[in-house]
Amino acid sequence: MPLPLAIPETRPKSALSPGQIRSLLEITDPKGVAALRREARQAADRHCGHTVFFRGIIEFSNVCNCDCYYCGIRRSNRKLTRYQLTRAEILRQAVWCARQGFGSVILQSGERRDRSFVDFVATVVRAIKQATRTPLLPDGLGITLCVGEQSREAYERFFEAGCHRYLLRIETRSPTLFKRWHPADQTLENRLRCLTRLRSIGYQVGTGVMIGAPWQTTADLAADVAWFREQDVDMIGMGPYIPHHAAPLAACAVDPPAVRLELALTMIAVVRLVLRDVNIAATTALQTLDPLGREQGLACGANVIMPQVTSPGCRKDYTLYDAKPGDDETDPIFRKALEGHIRELGLMVGYNRWGDAPHVKIREARREGAA
Ligand code: 5AD
Repeated sequence: MPLPLAIPETRPKSALSPGQIRSLLEITDPKGVAALRREARQAADRHCGHTVFFRGIIEFSNVCNCDCYYCGIRRSNRKLTRYQLTRAEILRQAVWCARQGFGSVILQSGERRDRSFVDFVATVVRAIKQATRTPLLPDGLGITLCVGEQSREAYERFFEAGCHRYLLRIETRSPTLFKRWHPADQTLENRLRCLTRLRSIGYQVGTGVMIGAPWQTTADLAADVAWFREQDVDMIGMGPYIPHHAAPLAACAVDPPAVRLELALTMIAVVRLVLRDVNIAATTALQTLDPLGREQGLACGANVIMPQVTSPGCRKDYTLYDAKPGDDETDPIFRKALEGHIRELGLMVGYNRWGDAPHVKIREARREGAA
């Protein structure tokens, strides 16, 4: 069945207007939804291949100076036990990922900007690169950092240490929503400035938004997608909003979980159709709303999965939202099941490769051509 929205054959889908993007996001009839998702998966196959990349995610600290109104690890949540893994613990988990052939890791933590934190992260990145060079991975693990808004100097230090990708979610491109979701000292302007810094340093840049969060409309999400395209980003990590009982936004009404899950899946499909050759992660938040949520994300065009490799003892305190899964995905049973599901979708896991987005080469070639 063709998509319910008439898109002239001659017009690339990536040229969809925000209004057209919004119409796609608003498709809810089952046949239309199925067609949209099928087309998105085919676009992923065409532009990124049938391969899914694993990025072991190491949530190395939940100490956070931010006070986002939606997040469970916000600094005002005094009930939370705070933790910080040691360099040796992080290294052990990264080496484990390399031995499994994961190819890349993501280091994620709460946001701190003090000198000792920046030193620590740079040292850890360097140590991981050194410890994970093998004949199969001669340049060591690919490293993605996700430690929030930092100074140019900090970003440069992480880059020099060997980190080549950075994820900084914008959360929403709407200035009004951003203000309602964050305290006044956290600004959209600074986040945008940070994304510009990251790009100018040479990182592969990822961003993303929460989906189905309070007061957010499909028009807001459509504007987010158009902005992703305008920014020429390489990676997208986004997922459904899930309330956390100790965060102020938990008091605000949102759609039921099933509706937020469907919207998040449709958003993945639409982002795939608009951006085409970027990496899109099927995130943990999808799995929180449905045990097979990540696999559904892959079926809608995502091509990256981030298995949890933080030790379960710590992970229980990395509570961004309620009911975050605590599975130990270093357990071979989970790996086998995940691999099986990926095969059932007609996809395969790309072991021992970084799995950079095809978009990176295209973007760089375009830049060289223009220079
Ligand atoms: N629901 C969904 N995602 C959340 N995040 C933080 N809190 C929540 C929540 N309640 C996401 C944000 C942040 C990332 C680390 O986790 O998008 O960037």
